[in-house]
Formats: sequence, structure tokens, C-alpha cells
Amino acid sequence: MTAFAHISVRGLTHVFADRRRTLRALSGVDLAVGRGEFVSVIGASGAGKTTLLRAIGGLLRPTSGAILVDGVLPAEAQRRKTIGFVFQEPALLPWRTVIENIRLPIEMNSRGSEARHAEPERLLTAVGLADFRDYHPHQLSGGMKQRVALARALAFDPSVLLMDEPLGALDEMTRTVMRYELLRLWEQSRKTVIFVTHSIPEAVLLSDRVVVMSSQPGRVVDDVAIALPRPRHADVERSQRFFAYADRIMDSLAKGSALAPAAAQAAAGG
Ligand SMILES: Nc1ncnc2c1ncn2[C@@H]1O[C@H](COP(=O)(O)OP(=O)(O)O)[C@@H](O)[C@H]1O
Ligand SMILES: [Mg+2]
Repeated sequence: MTAFAHISVRGLTHVFADRRRTLRALSGVDLAVGRGEFVSVIGASGAGKTTLLRAIGGLLRPTSGAILVDGVLPAEAQRRKTIGFVFQEPALLPWRTVIENIRLPIEMNSRGSEARHAEPERLLTAVGLADFRDYHPHQLSGGMKQRVALARALAFDPSVLLMDEPLGALDEMTRTVMRYELLRLWEQSRKTVIFVTHSIPEAVLLSDRVVVMSSQPGRVVDDVAIALPRPRHADVERSQRFFAYADRIMDSLAKGSALAPAAAQAAAGG
């Protein structure tokens, strides 16, 4: 599996250290994600999910471990525009319209590389914002802003999408709608996705696999294949199997957090 993985992480450990303290954010994380697979990472706040995503995306150099994205190191994958990012905060430029925000990465790269890019107008339509093309961010709802951020992340047609709680700041109704939007988009494009979330139903609904992390240090404590048929519709969320997956993940999360106090004590003591 690992040899052919689109994303492979082996023995990833990261320690944040300054003069006053050291914090082991990740410890021996192994993760292999196949091409076109949708993998969610779930874990308590502080479990190292963002650190993991930043390391995979080449935004952070880990203390130790090996990461390959599409067969190359993360920094090189980033240079090749293999990776698109979506964060919890959409971080749009307020003075630019929707279409201008979507176009931004392409403009910024116009002299930089030969990378193939998607047509901004098509991205706009794909995320359902054709009618809001010339609006400014302050005229958009939270969900609409996140759609712009998603379109912007797709500008270079990346084969890997790293999403860090992209729906985390949205109200529950919008969040539910956006889940299905994401499902639809992913089912059309089949990108390799790592999706960080706090929500168990969200992870089960979207994913091929759910990776459960413990905290302090962040470790993988469970890896659950979600064998629900696709395309997935709202009725899947009421099925027995859906609840069974959710229960299993809840148990693994509880076990992961039960480990945390001992680990934290050991860290404080030594
Ligand atoms: N830049 C940093 N400097 C020091 N500690 C950090 C830094 N970033 C994250 N941490 C710590 O690393 C741990 C994991 O953080 P993070 O990866 O953000 O977790 P999560 O995304 O799962 O909530 C936390 O204890 C956090 O305080
Ligand atoms: Mg985080």
C-alpha cells in the first residue's frame, strides 16, 4: 500500500521547542493515502492535526520522519502545485471581488511557473457562485466565503487537497449544506483529500477512511474504513451502519483521550 500511496507519512514526529518548554505534538505517525482517496483526520483540539497537515503540505519541517506527496518531498510538491489548501478561515482579500479572489493564485504565479491552471469562471460555477461573481467578501455569508476559498484552492487543479476544519466556522445549517456540496465536488473530481474535522458525522459521511488521533503526543489510535456506498445522500446518515461507524470512532476518541493524562505526566516529569 505505502509504496503506491499518493501521500505517504512514515514515523512523523514533531517537537515544538523554545527556551522554556518542549512539546511533543506528533509522535511516530504513519499514514498512507491512496490516489483519489478521501481521508478524514479526527481528534481532540491539540492532537496535532494542523501540525500533521502543515508537515504534509510543506509548511512545516518536521523534527523527524519521511513524507512523500505524489512521489516527491512536500516542498517540491508545493512548487509543482500538486497541493491545494483550505483552512478554517477563508482569508479572502476584502478589496477583491469573488472572481478576483479566485484568480489571485493564478495571477501571482503568472511568471513563476508553467503550471497548468483551471479556468476561474468554471471554478466559480463549480462552487455554485456564478451569480455572485462581482460581489466583495463582506457581501457574502460564511459558507459562500468558504466556497470562494475552495475554488481558489482548486486554481491549479491540484491532485491533493488538504483541508483543515474548512467547515468549522460555519453555523450548523450551512455546514450541513456544505458537506453535501463537498461530496458532490469530490465525487466529480476524485482528488486525494485529507480533511481535518472535529465532527464525527461529518467524517463518516465524507470519507473513505477516518483516522483517529490521540492528544499529547498526537498519535494515530485508529484507522476506520468507511464502506458506505457512494454517491452518498442524506438517508445514509440515518442508516444503522452509519451509527456503527460513528460509535466506533467515538470509542477510539475516548480511548485516545484516556491515554493523554499519562502521556502528559510523563512529558512533565521527564
Ligand atoms: N507554532 C507552535 N509553537 C508551539 N507549539 C505549537 C505550535 N503549533 C502548535 N503547537 C502545539 O502543538 C500541539 C498540536 O497543535 P495543533 O497541531 O494545532 O493541534 P490541532 O490542530 O489538533 O488542534 C498543541 O499542543 C499546540 O499548542
Ligand atoms: Mg488545528
